[in-house]
Amino acid sequence: MTGRTRALPRHIAVIMDGNGRWAAARALPRPAGHHMGVRAVKRIVENCARRGVEVLTLFAFSSENWQRPRDEVSMLMRRFLEALDQEVEQLHRNDIRLCFVGDAQQLNAGLRERMAAAAALTAGNRRMILVVAIAYGGRWDITQAARSLARRCVAGELAIEAIDEDCLEAQLALHGLPDPDLLIRTGGERRISNFLLWNLAYTELYFCDTLWPDFDEQELDAAIEYFGGRQRRFGRVPGPSVRRADEHP
Ligand code: IPE
Ligand code: IPE
Ligand code: MG
Repeated sequence: MTGRTRALPRHIAVIMDGNGRWAAARALPRPAGHHMGVRAVKRIVENCARRGVEVLTLFAFSSENWQRPRDEVSMLMRRFLEALDQEVEQLHRNDIRLCFVGDAQQLNAGLRERMAAAAALTAGNRRMILVVAIAYGGRWDITQAARSLARRCVAGELAIEAIDEDCLEAQLALHGLPDPDLLIRTGGERRISNFLLWNLAYTELYFCDTLWPDFDEQELDAAIEYFGGRQRRFGRVPGPSVRRADEHP
């Protein structure tokens, strides 16, 4: 990839925030915002696939979102199941592979089965990987990775001294995928809210005030343009060995 300029991030991660405020601004109930949020998901998936993004990771429900009122949680789960049922065939036809990351044990069995079926159906697709983070938390992710490593140590398969960053990374939910190049957070907040804590170490961060249901192709253009203007140093000093935002290690 050296020498070739490519203003497109390989991996985009998105914190889709602002559905509730979108609804409140229109005196609508929060579910109306989540409904329009699903439409915005469809738009960004199609757009990213068309542009040639390799991986798109969407934060759909966090470990902390379980603490919302029970009605909102069950509505979100129903909405998620409906969206999955409605969209999986189209995603498959579009050659998009669907993966899920998060603490699946927290989800109901019916939803888990549908997620597993969608992942299996689309497993061979090559155009783009769509990762949906549901019941996901960055701290959960690192904790479950630590637990897997501990299990292997206890089983005598791994020496404690052999644990290094690659080894831990291999146990994380996004193992095998490149780290996100660009993180987009809509909705005006400038925080990570326990998303991909490990994987975002050198990700370019883009925050915008647009509420998620209003996020469209022009907004995506603006985020990608911002990314194209970054010089990624990865801790080094500027010079010939430093990559532009469009080149990858
Ligand atoms: C994001 O929108 C969707 C989820 C977190 C599930 P919010 O529901 O957080 O919307 P706001 O932040 O209250 O506007
Ligand atoms: C982050 O949004 C989680 C998702 C978008 C799924 P939140 O609305 O939960 O984040 P906070 O509470 O404002 O930090
Ligand atoms: Mg929010």
